[in-house]
Amino acid sequence: MSRLVFVLNGPNLNLLGKRQPHIYGHETLADVERDCRALAAELGLELRFHQSNREYEIIDWIHEARESAGAIVINPAAFTHTSVAILDALHTCEFPIFEVHISNVHKREPFRHHSHVSSVAAGVIAGFGTQGYLLALRRAARLIDDAGA
Ligand code: DQA
Repeated sequence: MSRLVFVLNGPNLNLLGKRQPHIYGHETLADVERDCRALAAELGLELRFHQSNREYEIIDWIHEARESAGAIVINPAAFTHTSVAILDALHTCEFPIFEVHISNVHKREPFRHHSHVSSVAAGVIAGFGTQGYLLALRRAARLIDDAGA
């Protein structure tokens, strides 16, 4: 199984650290990328880390991942709650997908309680802050290791 993991981030996450810090914290997306890269190196994973405000770009990265990756970690941000297109793209992948939310979406507005992505996810992490990305990477590495054992 491929040791390449795509970490994909949806709209407005480029503003992490500036955007509603009482909800999302003070860390920037560059901080998250740095921590993910450090952990990936420790776990022997290769990493692609992307963010976009455009739905089609996220779909294109999922298509790229389906040809080459062993897992996807995705925080689809607001597209979580709206995008059947991202769900359909994820359905074409034959490896584990992990959905990450920095905030606990279940504690927030009712429209955030439904996720299109959860139905295809091997696991969902919400409310662990940016540490959720690292937890998802550890789980991805474990499943990739187990598949190769
Ligand atoms: C989010 C939660 C979503 O509801 C929201 O639209 C986001 C970020 C999170 O990481 O907590 O943009 O995915």
